[in-house]
Amino acid sequence: MEYTHRDEHLTPYDVIISGGEIVSGTSLVLGRGDIAIRGEKIARIAPHVDVPCRRRIDAKGLLVLPGLIDPHVHTSLPMRGTVSSDDPASATAAALFGGVTTIIDFTEQRAGQNLPESLRDKLSLLAGHAHTDYALHVNVTDFGPGFEERLAADLAAVVRLGAISFKVFPCYSKEGHAISRDHLKTLLKMSDAMGLLVLVHAENDRILLANEEKLLATGQIAPRDYPRSRPPRAEARAISDVIEAARAVDAAVYFVHVSTAGGLKRIVAGRQRASKPIYLETCPHYLILDESVYTGLDAAQFMVAPPLRAPEHREALLKGLGRGHVDVVATDHCPFLRNQKDRPGAPFTEIPNGLPGVETRLALLFTIAVMPRLITLERLVDLTSTNPAMIMGLYPRKGCIRPGSDADLVLFDPNTQWTIQPSGLHMNTDFSPHDGFKATGQVRTVLLRGKVVLENGALCSCKSGRYLKRDPQGLSAGAGP
Ligand code: URP
Ligand code: ZN
Ligand code: ZN
Repeated sequence: MEYTHRDEHLTPYDVIISGGEIVSGTSLVLGRGDIAIRGEKIARIAPHVDVPCRRRIDAKGLLVLPGLIDPHVHTSLPMRGTVSSDDPASATAAALFGGVTTIIDFTEQRAGQNLPESLRDKLSLLAGHAHTDYALHVNVTDFGPGFEERLAADLAAVVRLGAISFKVFPCYSKEGHAISRDHLKTLLKMSDAMGLLVLVHAENDRILLANEEKLLATGQIAPRDYPRSRPPRAEARAISDVIEAARAVDAAVYFVHVSTAGGLKRIVAGRQRASKPIYLETCPHYLILDESVYTGLDAAQFMVAPPLRAPEHREALLKGLGRGHVDVVATDHCPFLRNQKDRPGAPFTEIPNGLPGVETRLALLFTIAVMPRLITLERLVDLTSTNPAMIMGLYPRKGCIRPGSDADLVLFDPNTQWTIQPSGLHMNTDFSPHDGFKATGQVRTVLLRGKVVLENGALCSCKSGRYLKRDPQGLSAGAGP
């Protein structure tokens, strides 16, 4: 193993990470060795780099992973009269504790606001506050008069600002956010032609509305009734419809937070007939928890959309993970404080949806999937770093350990055992859906572009996170996993 950057010359290295087990995804199996960093970049990878450097970090006994990318994070998301409790600073600080060096957050489009304005708004909220690098997906939720006529110019303006991915909802018609089938096809077609990617929160609007109406009309308004308002078939149906729309215009599509066996099955089947990728993202909570949490006292705390499902869905997703059907495990990080969700007597429609997760993904996946040998360490890196980088246009700057890539590195101790408790975590919430979970493996040290930002479990970052401008060439260069 000897990989050297072409600009290699004799000035000393800034940092050498030595003696760790280097894991950089399935496309480049590295093994034990040293990583030499100059400035913000990885300069050399070799069994031993015995030359002067400003700082040597001993990684013996540790895994060295590329910084994780969480492509599904909400900071300060307004919802149901409140705002999710992690702002850009607290979410990205917590992210570092979980080995995450890049997040992708979302814009919020106000009614009547155009897409580039919504992107500028969110960029100004993040600027100067992030401890990790960050990019943005652009939510498309306003379909007022002239939507189709304006779309090409709006997409082009957004691309100039460095965003290349768009998220839509076929549901939430009551809020005025639901995209129609025709608008979806237009967006998919235009995006594909411009080299952009559409992300979909797939739940069928009519099924959600009918179920919610029935439950509310019969007084079944408590958080324990909530999962029945969003049944598994709502997801499966929406996924089928969106796959059909994408096929009709020959476009790629990315499904966020897939939670059901039916959704997974339709995506796997859809891929057989599609010429463009159909990406599948799921989240740790759908791989670990099930709907039994809604029978307990903390039912409101576990409210998330889509809801946690019956155990057979979790089993199917785990099997799909092991068989390679899942492209990305993200978190859909969207925490609230307990008192934001505890609204005794309020109908579930007034309680905000979302769970914390940006900090716990690596340890959870290591414990449930790598330890029992469901997936390899390289696959873990693919699912949490390399694939998000490739799919979202950040590769090879991010998502791998190669000379020339950003020196975003995580030193992970695979032998520590610890118990997840909200008080021991750094997300701005007093609730964790995994409270009491016995985890194996913990992040020790994190480097962001060559700078140590978390050391031996202590934060030493000074909000040096940068906005990552992406371009459509980046998407096709990554070419997907
Ligand atoms: O309940 C959730 N998932 N809240 C965040 C917003 C979304 O739909 O992803
Ligand atoms: Zn969603
Ligand atoms: Zn989300």
